[in-house]
Amino acid sequence: MKKKSENQKCGEGSAARLVGRSPRDRRSTEGYESSCVASGGAGAVACVKEIEPNDESKTISLRCGDSLSILSELDDCSASLILTDPPYNLGLFMKKRGTNIGKLRANHFAAASWDFLGFEEWSEKMDLFFAQAARILKRRGAVLMFMSIIKLETIKQIAEKHGFYYKTIGIWHKTNPMPRNMNLHFVNSTESWIYLVNGATTGTFNNNGKIIHDFYETAAVRGVERKCGVHPTQKPLVLMEHFVSLLSNEGDIVVDPFMGSGTTGVACKKLGRGFIGIDVSPEYCEIARRRIFE
Ligand SMILES: C[S@@+](CC[C@H](N)C(=O)[O-])C[C@H]1O[C@@H](n2cnc3c(N)ncnc32)[C@H](O)[C@@H]1O
Repeated sequence: MKKKSENQKCGEGSAARLVGRSPRDRRSTEGYESSCVASGGAGAVACVKEIEPNDESKTISLRCGDSLSILSELDDCSASLILTDPPYNLGLFMKKRGTNIGKLRANHFAAASWDFLGFEEWSEKMDLFFAQAARILKRRGAVLMFMSIIKLETIKQIAEKHGFYYKTIGIWHKTNPMPRNMNLHFVNSTESWIYLVNGATTGTFNNNGKIIHDFYETAAVRGVERKCGVHPTQKPLVLMEHFVSLLSNEGDIVVDPFMGSGTTGVACKKLGRGFIGIDVSPEYCEIARRRIFE
């Protein structure tokens, strides 16, 4: 595995290819890799499985396990974009408020792993995440991360510590939100995102001469996008396509270390990008595999 020395930044010339797979991982297998490799990390699943792609070009790799341990296996300077939607660390916050998150089924904030960490521990995980992101991304590569609005300043500070340049915070507006508690308070209809560039002030931005607003409006996920299984926080495909086409080029490698149902991967496959997707939940990895390969 190629490793960047400390503070070394990536050149932009690295070829797009799938990277960092250990000899064990490279063994040819059909379907899921059956033997698990012990992994540390968030601990919801104590194994790493590679879901062998059945696409001929081998430009898509799905991994089931903890994102920090799998990211640490990827090569330096090998990816152009990390497009991701990690747990927002709202689980404990909502529990303390007495919100029954089990009941928020259709819209609760990722039931697994990092979401139920205390703030300090979650921040430490994010710090480790951005250290890996700075290493695996090329110089001028980008992170586009969905995040709850009250955690954005924390993410910005951690990212800057690792050499990312803060570009933009923006909003995704859902036109048909669940009208939960509509007579008690404002209905939650937005999610925010933060856009950061690795080691430079600008990166790929394929606006083709058009003005691109920091505000994107769509309906929430359509039923047809859930036909391979239900993920509680699945993003609409059109939203992920928007960011993949704007922030990467054909043939680039895009990584989603918290892929959930694999929406980023579906967008990448459609738009001719390579994709490395990771999720700690075998159930969600299976939904992603079906969406991407079946
Ligand atoms: C907000 S969801 C992503 C949803 C995704 N954007 C989609 O369209 O389906 C966050 C995901 O992170 C996963 N996750 C949580 N902790 C993780 C960890 N330590 N490593 C890898 N995945 C993790 C959860 O299982 C969950 O599926």
